[in-house]
Amino acid sequence: MSKRLVCICNMVTEKEIHAALVKGAKLTTEIQKMTRAGTSCGRCLPWIDSIVEEYLAALPDDPQQRIDFGE
Ligand code: FES
Repeated sequence: MSKRLVCICNMVTEKEIHAALVKGAKLTTEIQKMTRAGTSCGRCLPWIDSIVEEYLAALPDDPQQRIDFGE
C-alpha cells in the first residue's frame, strides 16, 4: 500500500486508510472516525470511498479467510 497522501487537509495517507480497513473499518464514516481523513473539506471522500470499495471487493467470500494481519 502506498504512502500517497489521500487527505491533504488532515495529512492522511493511503497506507493509514488501509490500516484502518485491516482493523475492521467497513464504511467511509468509520475511516473518518479512525483517521480523520475526509473530515474537513471533503474533497477526498470519493477517493476514500473507492479505496474502501476496492478493499471490501477483494476480500474472500469465506469469512475465515478474511483475516488480514497487514504487513
Ligand atoms: S482533502 Fe480530505 S478533508 Fe480535505
